[in-house]
Amino acid sequence: MCGIVSVLTFEKEIIECLISSLERLEYRGYDSAGIAYIDENSKIERIRRVGKVAHLRQAVEKLNTNSHIGIGHTRWATHGKAIEKNAHPHIAGGVAIVHNGIIENFEQIKRELLNEGEVFESDSDSEVIAKLISYHIKTGLSFTEAMKTSMPRLKGTYAIAAIYEKQPNVLIGTKKGSPMAVGLSSDGRSIFIASDSVALSSLAGQITYLEDGDFVICLKEEEITYKILDSSFSEVNRSLILNNIAQNTVTKSGFADFMLKEIFEEPNTALETFNNFGSPIDLSQYKNISLIACGTSYYAGVLAKYWIEDLVGIHTDVEIASEFRYRNPVLSKSTLYIFISQSGETIDTLNALRNVKAQGLDTLSIVNVESSSIDREAKYKIKTSAGPEIGVASTKSFIAQALSLLLLFVDKNKIDIKEITHAMNEVISQYEKIKNVANKIKNSKSLLYIGRGTSYPIALEGALKAKELSYISAEGYPSGEIKHGPMALVDESIYSIILAPQDKYFEKTISNAQEILARNGRVLFITNEGVQLNFGQASYLYVPKIDPTAQPFVLTTAIHLLAYYIAKQKGLNVDQPRNLAKSVTVE
Ligand code: M6R
Repeated sequence: MCGIVSVLTFEKEIIECLISSLERLEYRGYDSAGIAYIDENSKIERIRRVGKVAHLRQAVEKLNTNSHIGIGHTRWATHGKAIEKNAHPHIAGGVAIVHNGIIENFEQIKRELLNEGEVFESDSDSEVIAKLISYHIKTGLSFTEAMKTSMPRLKGTYAIAAIYEKQPNVLIGTKKGSPMAVGLSSDGRSIFIASDSVALSSLAGQITYLEDGDFVICLKEEEITYKILDSSFSEVNRSLILNNIAQNTVTKSGFADFMLKEIFEEPNTALETFNNFGSPIDLSQYKNISLIACGTSYYAGVLAKYWIEDLVGIHTDVEIASEFRYRNPVLSKSTLYIFISQSGETIDTLNALRNVKAQGLDTLSIVNVESSSIDREAKYKIKTSAGPEIGVASTKSFIAQALSLLLLFVDKNKIDIKEITHAMNEVISQYEKIKNVANKIKNSKSLLYIGRGTSYPIALEGALKAKELSYISAEGYPSGEIKHGPMALVDESIYSIILAPQDKYFEKTISNAQEILARNGRVLFITNEGVQLNFGQASYLYVPKIDPTAQPFVLTTAIHLLAYYIAKQKGLNVDQPRNLAKSVTVE
């Protein structure tokens, strides 16, 4: 994962510019953060801190520099623990680099460089990049030539920004597999290279995106200039577009956490999605639908499969992107391939999309972050209306994805959006009750979420939210499957969350719950208002009964709030759970 940013400028405030960009990139990882810049004596200075960008901000607070060039990085650890020596930037022989991606052959390169007498400081794969560039400079190559010679040695993925202390007026970037945006300030006095346009939201008026193998060479002479070279080092034009990403001024607006705020925004997200929806495509030409995504976005796809097959009778497959991209799927011209992603940067989803595109087949993206890689590369696009989602756990974006999928296939007039949003708001108004139930659940050894029909994907989503936020092992299962194995787990240390809306599966789901109760399992029913259940030892949450097609939206808000309160009552950081990142840009 990781986020990178760099700047070459006539201005002096590079530290604040780097730090504020890193804050906007923190969704890519928060294991450590660091910056490096070339000072007025042409020496590289580096400051790194373990943990969030806030720690780095504190460390640089009193720093005064006249530097005009610098690079920054926020890390999600892949190779090497989250300790300072593994934090970026990495430096070798006056070259400093920041890297997003994974160098798969770093051990081999490292061995070769060790044999040449190089000494390594870190366990990171990225350090070999700095070492390799500086090694080539030592053999007599220029900084630019050393970059050009080093890159073909790297296997894997990378977006790299590099500076060299003997050329403090040169900033070089290159990429393969990981995204890279080059931004120009409106006054032309600064140029930036970063992982995405969000990092440059308040800095760059115009943006261009590099293609795989490209280099961007930025120079500060009389004025700031840049050229883009392709992998054969021929100059190429990449179109500049306006950077219309608004400055990220998202605040918690009085909520304790972004996640709570984002769950409370779910009804409005549904309303905005409904109001803004317009289909970009004529579906009549397709006989099959293939939905491809990861994590919560994948569960939106699982939910949509129920709707599409049931309501419009089109054969639908749902695929986990990391599997789809590496197996040999049978693709067809009569299939529409839909890629679902909040961030638009998930590497497996992006590469799955590229594989399908390479076969000349039709792709549609459902993405929340505009101008993200998936949004830019898909043929047809739907932009979800969730607004910025800061909490690492996807909440309101799931609502936007699911509703967009429903609206793509079902006539808007058949959906009663008022009923949906009203019911979701009613669930939210029960937050004290949900908090109390969470208190009963929080010390369980594990959680089992079960449901049938469209409640099954919500069970999957509930279990994912529970494990990522509260670190309790949790599974989502179709209710009918529990006696095929999971029932063996059931005892008084396990809580089962039964999603039992009053639909055509209701009686069957209740029977499954009774089987759990008969084995001393503890049970929470999430069912509809008006349902009479009387199992003494169980807990109950009642949600409004609405049109069965739309019922999953109401259940979702309930299980999101439940996961939130379980984690909160365990005293955990719900916005940035351990070991995770908002955008998964490595495979
Ligand atoms: O940005 P994407 O929607 O492509 O992300 C996919 C998953 O990484 C994401 O949904 C993840 O599972 C969330 N943390 C779940 O809350």
